[in-house]
Amino acid sequence: MGVSRVLLIVGGGIAAYKASELIRLFRKGGHEVTPVLTAGGAHFVTPMTLAALAESPVYTSLWDLKDESEMGHIQLSRAADIVLVCPATADLLAKMAAGVADDLATTLLLATDKPVIVAPAMNVRMWLHPATQRNLARLKADGITVIEPDDGAMACGEFGPGRLAEPTEIARFIEQSFPLVSGEIATPLLSGPLAGTHILVTAGPTHEPIDPVRVIANRSSGKQGFAIAAAAAEAGARVTLIAGPVALPTPGGVARIDVETAEQMAAAVEAALPADVAILVAAVADWKVASSPVKLKKGDGPPTLSFAPNPDILATLAKSPERPRLLIGFAAETNDLVANATAKRAAKGADWIVANDVSGDVMGGNHNEVHLITTTGDEAWEAGTKQAVARRLIARIIEALNAKTQLA
Ligand code: C5P
Repeated sequence: MGVSRVLLIVGGGIAAYKASELIRLFRKGGHEVTPVLTAGGAHFVTPMTLAALAESPVYTSLWDLKDESEMGHIQLSRAADIVLVCPATADLLAKMAAGVADDLATTLLLATDKPVIVAPAMNVRMWLHPATQRNLARLKADGITVIEPDDGAMACGEFGPGRLAEPTEIARFIEQSFPLVSGEIATPLLSGPLAGTHILVTAGPTHEPIDPVRVIANRSSGKQGFAIAAAAAEAGARVTLIAGPVALPTPGGVARIDVETAEQMAAAVEAALPADVAILVAAVADWKVASSPVKLKKGDGPPTLSFAPNPDILATLAKSPERPRLLIGFAAETNDLVANATAKRAAKGADWIVANDVSGDVMGGNHNEVHLITTTGDEAWEAGTKQAVARRLIARIIEALNAKTQLA
């Protein structure tokens, strides 16, 4: 079962108009939306607009629910699959954190037994205020999901975090996050050539601890993998990005899982299956270290490190009963690029290998020049930004999936 019934609580704020767009997206995806408008929200958007878009009655007050036996507030709060508050004002968040129930919206939020997701929108100072941040921490600890606001120019003329996330991002987030809770979505909310597919991407380095403060790392920045995750999400896929330690923002609409070690990455990949396509871009450490539970002391002299092999995620996935339909690995080589990558494709059991020469400044840089090694041979792609390489790879994946579907 996927999200099919959304109880949408519209708070007061200039961003309330964006709730109309969100309703349109949910309806387009075949979902039912029951809007609840707070007194503040009604200053910015009319019940008539929401009712027309949702094709549903709009509830504004506890006393709308005249016949308690027919549709009481308890029933209204539970008839939905999820409760989404959008926009969530500072006031509404504060009431939720305190457990106040003094109007219909807050009463429903207290009475519901369903997942609650809030999409806050407010002035940057209000957002950054310790009271708001405290309330948010409280709500997260209570199990409420927060869709972080965007950074940008605000209606009040100031600049910074607090702008409501774009409705497409909110819809995409719900589409992608909800299956993690309850299985699979009934109808894709968003369109695109990869709508309805699940794409798994690994990115970045891994860190293998030597002791509690030291690690063995590598120079992978994660930029190429993150660009691929972003391009897949733009094409409408549900994307799970399993990232080693990197300093990069999460691309819009991507579900990110942070890990440190190769073993954690292997476990996260397994937990994220099944996937239609896996693109393993991460520079996974080949060996782990028998790490010391206490910090090694300089005075004890240079340590002798003892290494053990890490799991090979790509090779394991290739042999797994849950092998994705299309399995893509990367090969970072400093010499004999195509020959080494071609051998790697066969040895690991991947469908494709994207081979890149890392003897220059590819690792950490913004550009890449790759060869795509497939069953039929080797394609040399012209050099470009990591985003351009990502888009081209996603375009090739779309072609391949379409061809496989036709054959099936
Ligand atoms: O063997 P090598 O590290 O060169 O292989 C690179 C490819 O294999 C990449 O796709 C990388 O993500 C993947 N890999 C892996 N698990 C490892 C080592 C590499 O998935 N332990």
